Amino acid sequence: MTGGIYKKPVLFAIVATVVILIGTMVTMFIPMLTSQMHPRLEDLKPFTAIQLAGRDIYQREGCNNCHTQTVRPLKTEVMRYGEYSKAGEFAYDRPFLWGSKRTGPDLARVGGKYPDAWHYRHFENPQAFFAESNMPAYGWLKGKKLSPSDMESHMKAIGFTYSVEEISALSEKDELDALVSYVQIIGASVKKKPAPAAVIEEKEHVTNPFAGDLKAIESGEKLYAANCAFCHGPNAKGDIGPDLTDDEFLYVKGDVSDDDYFEIINNGTAPGMVEEGRTAKGGMPSFKDSLDRNERWSLVAYIRAIQVKGAQK
Ligand code: HEC
Ligand code: HEC
Repeated sequence: MTGGIYKKPVLFAIVATVVILIGTMVTMFIPMLTSQMHPRLEDLKPFTAIQLAGRDIYQREGCNNCHTQTVRPLKTEVMRYGEYSKAGEFAYDRPFLWGSKRTGPDLARVGGKYPDAWHYRHFENPQAFFAESNMPAYGWLKGKKLSPSDMESHMKAIGFTYSVEEISALSEKDELDALVSYVQIIGASVKKKPAPAAVIEEKEHVTNPFAGDLKAIESGEKLYAANCAFCHGPNAKGDIGPDLTDDEFLYVKGDVSDDDYFEIINNGTAPGMVEEGRTAKGGMPSFKDSLDRNERWSLVAYIRAIQVKGAQK
């Protein structure tokens, strides 16, 4: 009789387990072996030897104890860091460095955010950029040689392709170079959201509401010291970013209007972006989300004020 099995608890348990196991295999393990379960973004490339060396240093130094590398699909996170993380961008990450603690900011979208020089300087002395940063300094990585033979075995073990030149070139690089190379490609395979349409139409020039306003210039000076000085230099005479007091704008001589300044502070730059017929090299971050409109105009007023002073001397 069919009812028989229900009266034999041991047999029933065994049969039930087998049936559930088959179900698990079909619904879980089989899909796991298919390629759709292992997506890979179109622009994703395996790490090069120097990037992998940098990644090893990232793990060795425990950067992942303070930094995550994953943006959750939550509005606040996307607004702060950029596009949320996709499964397909981690295909070559062995192991994943997603992390779970954010003492420092998430780094999933940090690649390309700043120029290389910024990272060298920041690793050497984070507090020179952000006085209250508790990130340790990593300047001591400078001059520490990489081992080409170790990296060759690592590339081989992990199954990445490499060239002989790529490996031998490592002997001229140090650990800090490797770390910067790695940081600069984190999340680089994810297409950046197109820059939001410029707030101001190119044609209609908007004048600075604070032009010449002494109070605004004063607050612009403070904002400059806190947000801009570490790239443009304490007197805006140029450093990682260009001189702001000269008569060049994006490497071409000739003045532009205040709203072009406003726009570049607003949107930042990307390599190849064209503004007023001048081509940017990239590396200027956007301050749209961190400074409000009045603060951005105050900065323009401040830059104008120091330009005038410079011209008088
Ligand atoms: C004790 C915690 C701590 C450790 C360890 C640490 N950081 Fe940081 N990191 C921070 C904090 C806090 C910030 C934000 C302030 C700043 O930029 O200094 C930061 C900022 C950064 C930034 C700039 C991010 C941005 O978007 O502006 C990068 C890049 C970075 N860290 C990389 C690293 C790397 C690589 C390591 C390991 C070699 C590391 N950090 C180790 C705490 C840490
Ligand atoms: C991470 C470094 C960095 C920070 C921080 C930064 N800038 Fe820049 N800035 C640059 C770079 C690099 C350029 C050149 C842009 C390019 O070639 O795409 C630039 C260009 C500019 C320009 C165009 C001027 C010219 O002569 O070409 C202005 C204006 C400017 N920045 C203002 C500011 C202001 C104001 C702040 C602070 C709110 C600021 N920048 C913060 C790196 C930075």
